[in-house]
Amino acid sequence: MFAPPKLVPPVLARPSWPARLGPPVLARPCRAGTDYRLIFAPLLPYALPRPPGRGTVTPRFDRQRKGQPVPIVDIQDFAGKSAVVVGGGSGIGAATAVRLTELGTSVAIFDINTAAAMTVADQAARKELCTVHDVDVSDADRLAAAVSAVVRETARIDFLVNSAASFISAGLDASPGDWDRVLGVNVKGCAASVSAISAHMPAGSAIVNVGSISAHIAQPNRWTYNATKAAIVEMTKCQALDLAPRGVRVNVVSPGWIWTPEVSKAAAGDRPRWEPVWGKYHILGRLGEPEEVANAIIFLLSRAASFITATELMVDGGYSALSAEGAGDASRFASTR
Ligand SMILES: NC(=O)c1ccc[n+]([C@@H]2O[C@H](COP(=O)([O-])OP(=O)(O)OC[C@H]3O[C@@H](n4cnc5c(N)ncnc54)[C@H](O)[C@@H]3O)[C@@H](O)[C@H]2O)c1
Repeated sequence: MFAPPKLVPPVLARPSWPARLGPPVLARPCRAGTDYRLIFAPLLPYALPRPPGRGTVTPRFDRQRKGQPVPIVDIQDFAGKSAVVVGGGSGIGAATAVRLTELGTSVAIFDINTAAAMTVADQAARKELCTVHDVDVSDADRLAAAVSAVVRETARIDFLVNSAASFISAGLDASPGDWDRVLGVNVKGCAASVSAISAHMPAGSAIVNVGSISAHIAQPNRWTYNATKAAIVEMTKCQALDLAPRGVRVNVVSPGWIWTPEVSKAAAGDRPRWEPVWGKYHILGRLGEPEEVANAIIFLLSRAASFITATELMVDGGYSALSAEGAGDASRFASTR
């Protein structure tokens, strides 16, 4: 684990705390260096124990604000909360982890590349909110140990983002080992992380899985990767159905081509050469940035998305709306009346 946080005595009450509500109970301890004004002011409504069997889907906090406009993104949805980002050591997961810490959420990064994950944590504006855990999401024991470590520290997990992927792309030549690895990380890993972490999620929590445009299209030599992405999109709907009674929403974002280390590798690092070629696959005519996917993930995690579950949000610059005609440079239509 990266830089174990020091626990500091919590602030227990505001002078104006209504006596009829009894003493407030803090949901979780927080770390040294935390800005209490940011963390505790918005959290006080959550500090009350919930009556058993009541308010499990719509927390008290939402009822109080019903009818009021919800700003996108409301920092109150994130400050003092706890998140796990699987695959947060690079690319889309890293951008999401950094954004969450900016909003005051403590983030546990689960990644096989701990060196990269520690660099992400170190570069986050609020690095004291980040911890790094050496986890291969396809390894149930390591996953369970890391989840226990996070829960020991934060008592609950409010947000889960599943961004890790094996990019093994093979078709006719796919070996049994290729299939085991790609299914183990992308499909079974996503399922295992949702199973293990949702057990610690209170009502009002949210999960975002990362799918892909590849879930829907034919691409050369991609049986393995594309099959797993289609499985994630479908599995998300089933997870959403099963977790709805607990007040947990589950959605999936499907990015187009995003300039991350994996895509950079495919371009041998030469973005000026490949951006015009791959950019054309998108209506917006360019590649996406990891932060643009992170923004969509943050929206789906937030209360602004409180009636959105089991949905696939395309974050693809219009990729999936294009046909084989592309942007239509060679298209002709007689337009006869
Ligand atoms: N970059 C794109 O163009 C693009 C497009 C569509 C979908 N996606 C999806 O977005 C997600 C993130 O992709 P990215 O481009 O940011 O990739 P990336 O390689 O930059 O980041 C993936 C991270 O996952 C980690 N990881 C890999 N296997 C793991 C495992 N078994 N356990 C734990 N961590 C593991 C890696 O170490 C890495 O830090 C993936 O699910 C990918 O399929 C990416």
